[in-house]
Amino acid sequence: MVARVIAKELRANPNLVLGLATGGTMESVYKLLVEMHRTEGLDFSLCRTFNLDEYVGLPPDNEGSYRFYMNHHLFHHVNIDLRNTHVPDGMASDLAASCRQYEETIVKMGGIDLQLLGIGRDGHIGFNEPLSALRSRTRAKALSPATIAQNVRYFDGDRSRMPKRALTMGVGTILDSKRCIMLAIGEEKADVIAKAVEGPITGMISASALQLHSHCTIVVDGDASLKLKEVDYYRWIFDNEPEWQEFHKPHA
Ligand code: GLP
Repeated sequence: MVARVIAKELRANPNLVLGLATGGTMESVYKLLVEMHRTEGLDFSLCRTFNLDEYVGLPPDNEGSYRFYMNHHLFHHVNIDLRNTHVPDGMASDLAASCRQYEETIVKMGGIDLQLLGIGRDGHIGFNEPLSALRSRTRAKALSPATIAQNVRYFDGDRSRMPKRALTMGVGTILDSKRCIMLAIGEEKADVIAKAVEGPITGMISASALQLHSHCTIVVDGDASLKLKEVDYYRWIFDNEPEWQEFHKPHA
């Protein structure tokens, strides 16, 4: 469904400015987008992209870097112009200046039209670890022990190879996007999804700030929804809002 939403927005606006996320959850989304490019001619030629985050100190050819991830899962398989793809530069000699420039480039492109988001087990969006300011902008952050434990699998379980810092769009940057869509899959996300969606807005769970966003959709599978209290209500909305009618088909 998330891939279908992206495809719909891209068809309506070929110049779309797309905010992109990484992580295991997003792999299925990118696989479907690649498939839609191949079978339906989904066109990325004019699309501009901005990734949420990147590890500090990993060059683009390092398999753990998010630039590598994006090339591998999406960019190298669709007709996107690589010059239109932006990932924060974790190798910059002046990280703060490079983050400021990242924000400026987003503004220059007219802002992010659609921001795709995953969620970390500690509630992070991008790498906005607990207690990130709700108005924060792109900057370097130290990764939390929970995030290191969650992501070390991408470094063959070797903590010494995993960077301890990353550049990330801020919560404020994400809230400035015109629309966002967050995807969570699996029981390990059930607790944090319940906190983000039904709990109070708090810096301890960065994703809870999405409650302030005027056009945010959260998509979960059955397992990730297990701790939500108001599932029947959410289903009712999904069944009755015209916006979602076309997504009722089983494969959508
Ligand atoms: C990383 C990214 C986040 C993403 C998270 C989810 O930490 N920085 O943007 O939301 O992974 O990862 P996964 O989908 O593998 O659970």
